[in-house]
Amino acid sequence: MRSTISIKPLTQRPAWKALAAHHKKIQKLHLRELFADDPKRGERLAVEAAGLYLDYSKNRITGQTVKLLLQLAKESGLRGKMEAMFSGEKINTTENRAVLHVALRAPKGTSILVDGKNVVPEVHAVLDKMGEFSNRVRSGEWKGHSGKRIKNVINIGIGGSDLGPVMAYEALKHYSERAMTFRFISNVDGIDFVEATRDLDPAETLFIVSSKTFTTLETMTNAQSARDWLLKGLGGEAKAVAKHFAAVSTNAEKVAAFGIDTVNMFGFWDWVGGRYSMDSAIGLSTMLAVGPDNFRALLQGFHEVDEHFRNTPFEKNLPVLMGLLSIWNNDFFGAHTVAVLPYEQYLKRFPAYLQQLTMESNGKHVTLDGKKADYQTGPVYWGEPGTNGQHSFYQLIHQGTRLIPCDFIAFGHPLTPLGRHHDILLANVFAQAEALAFGKTLEEVKAEGTPSALARHRVFEGNRPSNVILAERLTPEVLGKLVALYEHNVFTQGAIWNIDSFDQWGVELGKALAQRIVPELESEAAPKLKHDSSTNSLIRRYRKLKGTK
Ligand code: F6P
Repeated sequence: MRSTISIKPLTQRPAWKALAAHHKKIQKLHLRELFADDPKRGERLAVEAAGLYLDYSKNRITGQTVKLLLQLAKESGLRGKMEAMFSGEKINTTENRAVLHVALRAPKGTSILVDGKNVVPEVHAVLDKMGEFSNRVRSGEWKGHSGKRIKNVINIGIGGSDLGPVMAYEALKHYSERAMTFRFISNVDGIDFVEATRDLDPAETLFIVSSKTFTTLETMTNAQSARDWLLKGLGGEAKAVAKHFAAVSTNAEKVAAFGIDTVNMFGFWDWVGGRYSMDSAIGLSTMLAVGPDNFRALLQGFHEVDEHFRNTPFEKNLPVLMGLLSIWNNDFFGAHTVAVLPYEQYLKRFPAYLQQLTMESNGKHVTLDGKKADYQTGPVYWGEPGTNGQHSFYQLIHQGTRLIPCDFIAFGHPLTPLGRHHDILLANVFAQAEALAFGKTLEEVKAEGTPSALARHRVFEGNRPSNVILAERLTPEVLGKLVALYEHNVFTQGAIWNIDSFDQWGVELGKALAQRIVPELESEAAPKLKHDSSTNSLIRRYRKLKGTK
């Protein structure tokens, strides 16, 4: 059943109008004043749930801002939209699909219906099958074609079939089987394949071809090269493929057509979006790396935040608050981007993972009613781990002309303590958030004896908003919580903007044009080109560079 939530266009909602008026009034207020006026602000504007502590006090907000944002969530039908997702309604309307990544981490015994069928038992059947397979490979029971044990696992996939697995492998390396090598091939640039395989023995290598559709050009090209590489290394016997290839897909037919035995196929469903799939069978490489128990802990973490999101009043709801603050910064302060800055080296691929999650989801200009949005939607997400970024782009965040809200992520304990490193790391994250918020005035700079010609250059205006997320340590469970926090943050934003956060039509045009251009680059004879003059001459120049007509 489709929910019948009737809501006003965003800019006509009373709370939106009130926020616009309120913004005019408070936009000049400085965080210095806000903190000076309320000595307890740092404790008051913080929430803790599921082991995640969110300090959002360094945003340019007052109590009234939060009240109005919460009102906006209400007027936008957020609660109803959440329920529609959790109960399996087809909220991805442009693809007529349910959006049920939350079912991937639902405990056994739960019931979530899609078209009248409970999908949770199937989810657990796949998880059990992944667990058995992982145990066999990890223990050495699963042998390659020539009887050697598998030492190398290579995931082939792109987008959601790559970014989640890479990010999770890097994030959970501490928990991984160090005797095995894990690599990831995504780019159709052959270098990705060549570098990932150059020092590996095919007899000890297992490929996991991960593709929801099993038609993606990059993945299929890499999978074909993997097959050629393997067969070449193992004497050309086609039956070797069965021992060295597994597939993760929703498309059994295409998997079989590629020559992978569907016994070695791990399925998922059309109600799992690519960028929401790292906790489905797409996480097979993660499970092989960290083992089934750690993978289950990851799912448990996701689930805890799902429950928090679904059941907690909005004013204490971490993803809802983060989503609303993002709207405030994006739509009212005109911030174009959000920097995600993990002070944890293991999370080095987390910003890259979030880029797809956030931008493929909310990079939309048409609303669910098919109208052009007359307000800004998804901001650009980007980032790097601290402290490296501090010596690179933080200059612009501190003293540039743009407003860049930051999400800092840090942990109470390092996974492998080393001397003073962790205290120094954490001192830096706290210092950055403090410096961004409060800055340094001209008077303070002058009082330090700075020559007047230099003084202005050394001023930090401050009033740069940030969130700080603190957790105890980076465990599989906490990683699941962090990802779910951002998934639901993205959901909240999309719900307010009234867009479909679960389709990705924007990637289609480029794909189709590339398919048209490939034969124009490969043909022996000079092709008849019918593109614009720029594309035509680039194609001709490339053909010349590679020595064709
Ligand atoms: O780039 C578009 C996209 O469809 C992503 O949404 C998806 O994660 C990726 O391509 C890979 O798709 P597939 O898993 O079907 O190969």
